[in-house]
Amino acid sequence: MNNGLENVVAAETVLSDVRGAEGQLIIRGHPLSALAGHWTFEQTAHLLFTGFFADLTDAAGLAAGLGMARVEVFERVRERIGAVAELPLYDAMRALTAMLPDGTALSDALRLLAAPAVLLPALIRLQAGDTAIAPAADAGHAADVIRMLGRSDGAAALDAYLVTVSDHGLNASTFAARVVASTQAGLTSSVLAGLGALKGPLHGGAPGPVIDMLDAIAAEGDSRGWIDRALDGGDRLMGFGHRVYRTRDPRADALKAALLSFGPVDARLRFAEDVERAALEGLRRRKPDRVIDTNVEFYTALLLEAVGFPKHGFTGVFAMGRVAGWLAHAREQALTGRLIRPASLYVEPPASRAA
Ligand code: ACO
Repeated sequence: MNNGLENVVAAETVLSDVRGAEGQLIIRGHPLSALAGHWTFEQTAHLLFTGFFADLTDAAGLAAGLGMARVEVFERVRERIGAVAELPLYDAMRALTAMLPDGTALSDALRLLAAPAVLLPALIRLQAGDTAIAPAADAGHAADVIRMLGRSDGAAALDAYLVTVSDHGLNASTFAARVVASTQAGLTSSVLAGLGALKGPLHGGAPGPVIDMLDAIAAEGDSRGWIDRALDGGDRLMGFGHRVYRTRDPRADALKAALLSFGPVDARLRFAEDVERAALEGLRRRKPDRVIDTNVEFYTALLLEAVGFPKHGFTGVFAMGRVAGWLAHAREQALTGRLIRPASLYVEPPASRAA
Protein backbone atom coordinates (compact mmCIF):
# COMPACT_ATOMS: atom_id res chain seq x y z
CA MET A 1 0.00 0.00 0.00
CA ASN A 2 1.18 3.55 -0.72
CA ASN A 3 -0.48 5.84 1.81
CA GLY A 4 -0.88 9.22 0.08
CA LEU A 5 0.11 7.81 -3.35
CA GLU A 6 3.49 9.58 -3.13
CA ASN A 7 5.51 9.01 -6.35
CA VAL A 8 2.69 6.93 -7.89
CA VAL A 9 2.33 7.88 -11.58
CA ALA A 10 -1.43 7.78 -12.28
CA ALA A 11 -1.78 9.80 -15.49
CA GLU A 12 0.12 10.82 -18.60
CA THR A 13 -0.16 14.55 -19.27
CA VAL A 14 1.11 17.18 -21.67
CA LEU A 15 -0.01 19.96 -19.33
CA SER A 16 2.61 20.52 -16.65
CA ASP A 17 5.61 19.02 -14.91
CA VAL A 18 6.58 19.69 -11.31
CA ARG A 19 10.35 19.09 -11.04
CA GLY A 20 10.66 18.68 -7.32
CA ALA A 21 14.42 18.23 -7.04
CA GLU A 22 15.26 21.24 -9.23
CA GLY A 23 12.45 23.49 -7.96
CA GLN A 24 11.10 24.01 -11.48
CA LEU A 25 7.55 24.15 -12.82
CA ILE A 26 7.05 23.62 -16.56
CA ILE A 27 3.63 24.50 -18.00
CA ARG A 28 3.19 22.90 -21.42
CA GLY A 29 6.81 23.39 -22.43
CA HIS A 30 7.30 26.79 -20.79
CA PRO A 31 9.12 27.37 -17.50
CA LEU A 32 6.94 29.32 -15.08
CA SER A 33 9.48 32.19 -15.13
CA ALA A 34 8.71 32.72 -18.84
CA LEU A 35 4.95 32.88 -18.23
CA ALA A 36 4.24 34.70 -14.94
CA GLY A 37 4.38 38.44 -15.52
CA HIS A 38 4.72 37.90 -19.31
CA TRP A 39 1.59 36.04 -20.42
CA THR A 40 -1.99 36.91 -19.56
CA PHE A 41 -4.26 34.41 -17.84
CA GLU A 42 -6.27 34.15 -21.06
CA GLN A 43 -3.14 33.23 -23.07
CA THR A 44 -2.18 30.66 -20.43
CA ALA A 45 -5.67 29.13 -20.45
CA HIS A 46 -5.47 28.95 -24.25
CA LEU A 47 -2.11 27.15 -23.96
CA LEU A 48 -3.67 24.63 -21.55
CA PHE A 49 -6.88 24.15 -23.56
CA THR A 50 -5.18 23.63 -26.95
CA GLY A 51 -6.08 20.25 -28.45
CA PHE A 52 -8.88 19.54 -25.99
CA PHE A 53 -11.77 21.48 -27.57
CA ALA A 54 -12.69 21.12 -31.25
CA ASP A 55 -13.87 24.72 -31.69
CA LEU A 56 -11.05 26.48 -29.81
CA THR A 57 -9.49 29.16 -32.03
CA ASP A 58 -6.68 31.49 -30.92
CA ALA A 59 -5.94 33.19 -27.59
CA ALA A 60 -7.81 36.33 -28.65
CA GLY A 61 -10.86 34.16 -29.43
CA LEU A 62 -10.64 32.54 -25.98
CA ALA A 63 -10.32 35.97 -24.33
CA ALA A 64 -13.43 37.23 -26.18
CA GLY A 65 -15.38 34.07 -25.33
CA LEU A 66 -14.30 34.29 -21.69
CA GLY A 67 -15.49 37.92 -21.49
CA MET A 68 -18.90 36.89 -22.79
CA ALA A 69 -18.95 33.92 -20.42
CA ARG A 70 -18.35 36.26 -17.44
CA VAL A 71 -21.42 38.23 -18.45
CA GLU A 72 -23.46 35.03 -18.98
CA VAL A 73 -22.49 33.59 -15.58
CA PHE A 74 -23.42 36.86 -13.86
CA GLU A 75 -26.84 36.86 -15.59
CA ARG A 76 -27.44 33.18 -14.74
CA VAL A 77 -26.73 33.56 -11.00
CA ARG A 78 -28.12 37.07 -10.53
CA GLU A 79 -31.49 35.89 -9.17
CA ARG A 80 -30.03 33.07 -7.07
CA ILE A 81 -27.02 34.69 -5.47
CA GLY A 82 -29.00 36.16 -2.56
CA ALA A 83 -30.17 32.67 -1.56
CA VAL A 84 -26.60 31.45 -0.90
CA ALA A 85 -24.94 34.71 0.21
CA GLU A 86 -25.33 33.71 3.87
CA LEU A 87 -23.12 30.65 3.40
CA PRO A 88 -19.38 30.91 4.07
CA LEU A 89 -17.82 32.59 1.01
CA TYR A 90 -16.14 29.55 -0.55
CA ASP A 91 -19.20 27.34 0.02
CA ALA A 92 -21.48 29.96 -1.59
CA MET A 93 -19.17 30.09 -4.63
CA ARG A 94 -19.22 26.28 -4.88
CA ALA A 95 -23.03 26.17 -4.56
CA LEU A 96 -23.48 28.66 -7.42
CA THR A 97 -20.93 26.83 -9.58
CA ALA A 98 -23.01 23.67 -9.11
CA MET A 99 -25.91 25.40 -10.90
CA LEU A 100 -24.00 25.69 -14.19
CA PRO A 101 -24.69 23.18 -17.03
CA ASP A 102 -22.58 20.00 -16.81
CA GLY A 103 -21.40 19.61 -20.42
CA THR A 104 -18.02 19.06 -22.06
CA ALA A 105 -18.04 21.68 -24.84
CA LEU A 106 -15.85 24.79 -25.03
CA SER A 107 -18.86 26.93 -24.00
CA ASP A 108 -19.17 24.85 -20.80
CA ALA A 109 -15.45 25.23 -20.12
CA LEU A 110 -15.53 29.00 -20.65
CA ARG A 111 -18.46 29.39 -18.23
CA LEU A 112 -16.56 27.39 -15.61
CA LEU A 113 -13.34 29.36 -16.27
CA ALA A 114 -15.36 32.55 -15.75
CA ALA A 115 -17.31 31.34 -12.72
CA PRO A 116 -14.89 31.94 -9.78
CA ALA A 117 -13.84 35.30 -11.29
CA VAL A 118 -17.46 36.47 -11.36
CA LEU A 119 -18.84 34.76 -8.26
CA LEU A 120 -16.11 35.60 -5.77
CA PRO A 121 -16.10 39.42 -6.16
CA ALA A 122 -19.93 39.48 -6.28
CA LEU A 123 -20.20 37.42 -3.07
CA ILE A 124 -17.47 39.41 -1.29
CA ARG A 125 -19.36 42.61 -2.04
CA LEU A 126 -22.80 41.23 -1.12
CA GLN A 127 -21.49 39.83 2.16
CA ALA A 128 -20.00 43.25 2.95
CA GLY A 129 -23.39 44.90 2.34
CA ASP A 130 -22.46 46.35 -1.10
CA THR A 131 -24.12 45.63 -4.43
CA ALA A 132 -22.48 43.30 -6.95
CA ILE A 133 -20.76 44.94 -9.94
CA ALA A 134 -21.57 43.36 -13.33
CA PRO A 135 -18.67 42.10 -15.47
CA ALA A 136 -17.45 43.95 -18.59
CA ALA A 137 -17.09 41.54 -21.52
CA ASP A 138 -14.30 43.48 -23.22
CA ALA A 139 -12.05 43.92 -20.16
CA GLY A 140 -9.01 41.74 -19.47
CA HIS A 141 -9.92 38.87 -17.13
CA ALA A 142 -7.79 39.97 -14.15
CA ALA A 143 -8.64 43.66 -14.70
CA ASP A 144 -12.33 42.78 -14.68
CA VAL A 145 -11.99 40.91 -11.38
CA ILE A 146 -10.34 43.97 -9.81
CA ARG A 147 -13.13 46.15 -11.22
CA MET A 148 -15.87 43.78 -9.94
CA LEU A 149 -14.21 43.91 -6.54
CA GLY A 150 -14.70 47.68 -6.61
CA ARG A 151 -10.98 48.44 -6.76
CA SER A 152 -8.76 50.03 -9.37
CA ASP A 153 -5.17 48.75 -8.75
CA GLY A 154 -3.49 45.38 -8.92
CA ALA A 155 -4.66 43.85 -12.22
CA ALA A 156 -1.12 42.99 -13.39
CA ALA A 157 -0.22 41.42 -10.02
CA LEU A 158 -3.45 39.39 -10.00
CA ASP A 159 -2.85 38.30 -13.61
CA ALA A 160 0.66 37.08 -12.67
CA TYR A 161 -0.87 35.22 -9.70
CA LEU A 162 -3.56 33.51 -11.81
CA VAL A 163 -0.94 32.39 -14.36
CA THR A 164 1.36 31.15 -11.56
CA VAL A 165 -1.28 28.88 -10.03
CA SER A 166 -3.01 27.82 -13.29
CA ASP A 167 -1.62 24.28 -13.29
CA HIS A 168 0.66 22.16 -11.14
CA GLY A 169 0.90 18.48 -12.04
CA LEU A 170 -1.24 15.92 -10.29
CA ASN A 171 -1.95 17.90 -7.12
CA ALA A 172 -4.88 16.78 -4.93
CA SER A 173 -7.56 18.96 -6.58
CA THR A 174 -6.42 18.18 -10.13
CA PHE A 175 -6.37 14.47 -9.32
CA ALA A 176 -9.90 14.78 -7.91
CA ALA A 177 -11.03 16.55 -11.10
CA ARG A 178 -9.43 13.82 -13.24
CA VAL A 179 -11.04 11.01 -11.21
CA VAL A 180 -14.46 12.51 -11.92
CA ALA A 181 -13.65 13.12 -15.61
CA SER A 182 -12.50 9.51 -15.92
CA THR A 183 -16.14 8.45 -15.39
CA GLN A 184 -17.13 10.63 -18.41
CA ALA A 185 -19.10 13.02 -16.17
CA GLY A 186 -19.31 16.66 -17.29
CA LEU A 187 -16.89 19.51 -16.61
CA THR A 188 -18.99 21.09 -13.84
CA SER A 189 -18.76 17.80 -11.93
CA SER A 190 -14.96 17.80 -12.33
CA VAL A 191 -14.64 21.43 -11.24
CA LEU A 192 -16.80 20.77 -8.18
CA ALA A 193 -14.46 17.90 -7.23
CA GLY A 194 -11.50 20.24 -7.67
CA LEU A 195 -13.17 22.92 -5.56
CA GLY A 196 -13.84 20.41 -2.78
CA ALA A 197 -10.25 19.19 -2.67
CA LEU A 198 -8.75 22.68 -2.88
CA LYS A 199 -10.61 23.88 0.21
CA GLY A 200 -8.54 22.07 2.82
CA PRO A 201 -5.63 23.75 4.65
CA LEU A 202 -3.12 21.16 3.44
CA HIS A 203 -3.81 22.33 -0.13
CA GLY A 204 -5.50 25.62 -1.13
CA GLY A 205 -6.79 26.60 2.27
CA ALA A 206 -3.39 27.62 3.63
CA PRO A 207 -3.01 31.31 2.63
CA GLY A 208 -5.74 32.65 4.95
CA PRO A 209 -4.05 30.96 7.92
CA VAL A 210 -0.71 32.47 6.73
CA ILE A 211 -2.21 35.91 7.45
CA ASP A 212 -3.46 34.66 10.85
CA MET A 213 0.07 33.47 11.61
CA LEU A 214 1.64 36.78 10.53
CA ASP A 215 -0.89 38.74 12.59
CA ALA A 216 -0.33 36.58 15.67
CA ILE A 217 3.46 36.99 15.35
CA ALA A 218 3.11 40.76 14.78
CA ALA A 219 0.96 41.04 17.92
CA GLU A 220 3.61 39.20 19.94
CA GLY A 221 6.59 40.93 18.31
CA ASP A 222 8.94 37.93 18.50
CA SER A 223 9.09 35.82 15.31
CA ARG A 224 11.59 33.29 16.58
CA GLY A 225 9.87 32.77 19.93
CA TRP A 226 6.42 32.32 18.32
CA ILE A 227 7.73 29.89 15.70
CA ASP A 228 9.70 27.83 18.21
CA ARG A 229 6.63 27.50 20.41
CA ALA A 230 4.42 26.52 17.45
CA LEU A 231 6.87 23.87 16.26
CA ASP A 232 7.50 22.57 19.78
CA GLY A 233 3.72 22.22 20.14
CA GLY A 234 3.58 20.10 16.96
CA ASP A 235 1.85 22.75 14.79
CA ARG A 236 2.47 23.02 11.06
CA LEU A 237 3.64 26.38 9.77
CA MET A 238 1.27 27.41 6.99
CA GLY A 239 3.02 28.36 3.75
CA PHE A 240 5.93 25.92 4.25
CA GLY A 241 6.55 22.40 3.00
CA HIS A 242 5.46 20.55 -0.11
CA ARG A 243 4.85 16.97 -1.19
CA VAL A 244 6.98 17.26 -4.34
CA TYR A 245 9.42 20.18 -3.99
CA ARG A 246 12.59 19.37 -2.09
CA THR A 247 13.69 22.95 -2.56
CA ARG A 248 11.97 26.32 -2.65
CA ASP A 249 8.67 26.33 -4.55
CA PRO A 250 9.41 28.36 -7.74
CA ARG A 251 5.95 29.90 -7.48
CA ALA A 252 6.98 31.66 -4.26
CA ASP A 253 9.57 33.69 -6.20
CA ALA A 254 7.18 34.38 -9.10
CA LEU A 255 4.66 35.77 -6.63
CA LYS A 256 7.24 37.75 -4.69
CA ALA A 257 8.33 39.35 -8.00
CA ALA A 258 4.68 40.18 -8.82
CA LEU A 259 4.26 41.68 -5.36
CA LEU A 260 7.39 43.81 -5.76
CA SER A 261 6.26 45.06 -9.17
CA PHE A 262 2.92 46.07 -7.64
CA GLY A 263 4.37 48.23 -4.89
CA PRO A 264 7.60 49.10 -3.08
CA VAL A 265 9.00 46.90 -0.32
CA ASP A 266 6.99 48.07 2.64
CA ALA A 267 7.04 47.28 6.35
CA ARG A 268 4.60 44.37 5.86
CA LEU A 269 6.87 42.66 3.32
CA ARG A 270 10.00 43.23 5.45
CA PHE A 271 8.20 41.75 8.43
CA ALA A 272 7.02 38.76 6.36
CA GLU A 273 10.59 38.16 5.15
CA ASP A 274 11.77 38.15 8.76
CA VAL A 275 9.06 35.60 9.66
CA GLU A 276 10.02 33.51 6.62
CA ARG A 277 13.69 33.45 7.72
CA ALA A 278 12.73 32.49 11.28
CA ALA A 279 10.39 29.75 10.02
CA LEU A 280 13.03 28.26 7.70
CA GLU A 281 15.62 28.29 10.49
CA GLY A 282 13.19 26.64 12.91
CA LEU A 283 12.17 23.99 10.39
CA ARG A 284 15.80 23.24 9.42
CA ARG A 285 16.79 22.82 13.05
CA ARG A 286 13.93 20.38 13.76
CA LYS A 287 13.91 18.48 10.45
CA PRO A 288 17.54 18.51 9.23
CA ASP A 289 16.89 15.48 6.99
CA ARG A 290 13.81 16.83 5.21
CA VAL A 291 13.88 20.01 3.15
CA ILE A 292 10.86 22.04 4.18
CA ASP A 293 10.97 25.33 2.31
CA THR A 294 8.63 28.19 1.46
CA ASN A 295 5.67 27.12 -0.69
CA VAL A 296 3.33 29.06 -2.98
CA GLU A 297 0.92 29.97 -0.21
CA PHE A 298 3.22 32.25 1.79
CA TYR A 299 3.58 34.93 -0.92
CA THR A 300 0.06 34.22 -2.20
CA ALA A 301 -1.21 35.53 1.11
CA LEU A 302 0.84 38.72 0.88
CA LEU A 303 -0.01 39.35 -2.77
CA LEU A 304 -3.75 38.79 -2.42
CA GLU A 305 -3.81 40.92 0.74
CA ALA A 306 -2.02 43.75 -1.13
CA VAL A 307 -4.41 43.49 -4.09
CA GLY A 308 -7.38 43.86 -1.73
CA PHE A 309 -8.95 40.43 -1.23
CA PRO A 310 -10.15 39.60 2.29
CA LYS A 311 -8.28 36.60 3.73
CA HIS A 312 -11.39 34.39 3.72
CA GLY A 313 -11.48 34.89 -0.07
CA PHE A 314 -7.93 33.66 -0.78
CA THR A 315 -8.85 30.04 -1.54
CA GLY A 316 -11.51 31.25 -3.97
CA VAL A 317 -8.89 33.32 -5.83
CA PHE A 318 -6.70 30.21 -6.01
CA ALA A 319 -9.66 28.43 -7.64
CA MET A 320 -9.95 31.33 -10.11
CA GLY A 321 -6.52 30.41 -11.48
CA ARG A 322 -6.44 26.63 -10.95
CA VAL A 323 -9.80 26.12 -12.70
CA ALA A 324 -7.89 26.47 -16.00
CA GLY A 325 -5.77 23.45 -15.10
CA TRP A 326 -8.74 21.43 -13.79
CA LEU A 327 -10.63 21.94 -17.05
CA ALA A 328 -7.68 21.01 -19.27
CA HIS A 329 -6.86 17.94 -17.14
CA ALA A 330 -10.50 16.85 -17.11
CA ARG A 331 -10.65 16.97 -20.92
CA GLU A 332 -7.27 15.25 -21.25
CA GLN A 333 -8.39 12.48 -18.89
CA ALA A 334 -11.74 12.01 -20.66
CA LEU A 335 -10.11 11.95 -24.10
CA THR A 336 -6.99 9.91 -23.40
CA GLY A 337 -7.34 8.13 -20.07
CA ARG A 338 -9.27 5.22 -18.54
CA LEU A 339 -11.62 5.00 -15.57
CA ILE A 340 -9.49 5.68 -12.46
CA ARG A 341 -10.24 2.95 -9.99
CA PRO A 342 -7.44 2.00 -7.56
CA ALA A 343 -7.56 -0.83 -5.05
CA SER A 344 -7.67 -0.74 -1.26
CA LEU A 345 -6.20 -3.04 1.35
CA TYR A 346 -9.06 -4.59 3.31
CA VAL A 347 -8.41 -4.90 7.03
CA GLU A 348 -10.89 -7.31 8.56
CA PRO A 349 -12.83 -5.77 11.51
CA PRO A 350 -12.02 -7.55 14.81
CA ALA A 351 -15.69 -8.52 15.39
CA SER A 352 -16.05 -10.41 12.11
CA ARG A 353 -12.65 -12.08 12.66
CA ALA A 354 -13.96 -13.47 15.95
CA ALA A 355 -17.27 -14.67 14.42
N1 ACO B 1 5.40 22.89 9.43
C1 ACO B 1 5.89 22.02 10.34
N2 ACO B 1 6.21 20.74 10.04
C2 ACO B 1 6.00 20.34 8.78
C3 ACO B 1 5.50 21.19 7.77
C4 ACO B 1 5.20 22.52 8.15
N3 ACO B 1 4.70 23.39 7.27
N4 ACO B 1 5.41 20.50 6.63
C5 ACO B 1 5.83 19.26 6.87
N5 ACO B 1 6.19 19.15 8.18
C6 ACO B 1 6.68 17.96 8.85
C7 ACO B 1 5.52 17.06 9.26
O1 ACO B 1 5.03 17.39 10.54
C8 ACO B 1 6.16 15.70 9.22
O2 ACO B 1 6.89 15.50 10.40
P1 ACO B 1 6.94 14.00 11.08
O3 ACO B 1 7.62 13.13 10.06
O4 ACO B 1 7.76 14.23 12.31
O5 ACO B 1 5.51 13.62 11.33
C9 ACO B 1 7.16 15.79 8.06
O6 ACO B 1 7.45 17.19 7.93
C10 ACO B 1 6.59 15.29 6.75
O7 ACO B 1 5.29 15.81 6.58
P2 ACO B 1 4.17 15.15 5.65
O8 ACO B 1 2.85 15.70 6.05
O9 ACO B 1 4.32 13.67 5.57
O10 ACO B 1 4.62 15.67 4.24
P3 ACO B 1 3.67 15.94 3.04
O11 ACO B 1 4.45 15.68 1.84
O12 ACO B 1 2.37 15.23 3.16
O13 ACO B 1 3.43 17.51 3.32
C11 ACO B 1 2.18 19.46 3.16
C12 ACO B 1 3.05 18.44 2.41
C13 ACO B 1 0.84 18.83 3.52
C14 ACO B 1 1.95 20.65 2.24
C15 ACO B 1 2.89 19.93 4.47
O14 ACO B 1 4.17 20.44 4.18
C16 ACO B 1 2.07 20.96 5.25
O15 ACO B 1 1.19 20.57 6.02
N6 ACO B 1 2.35 22.30 5.08
C17 ACO B 1 1.58 23.32 5.74
C18 ACO B 1 0.28 23.63 5.00
C19 ACO B 1 0.52 24.32 3.66
O16 ACO B 1 1.34 25.23 3.54
N7 ACO B 1 -0.26 23.88 2.65
C20 ACO B 1 -0.16 24.40 1.27
C21 ACO B 1 0.64 23.48 0.43
S1 ACO B 1 0.96 24.13 -1.18
C22 ACO B 1 -0.45 23.74 -2.06
O17 ACO B 1 -1.06 22.74 -1.92
C23 ACO B 1 -0.91 24.70 -3.01
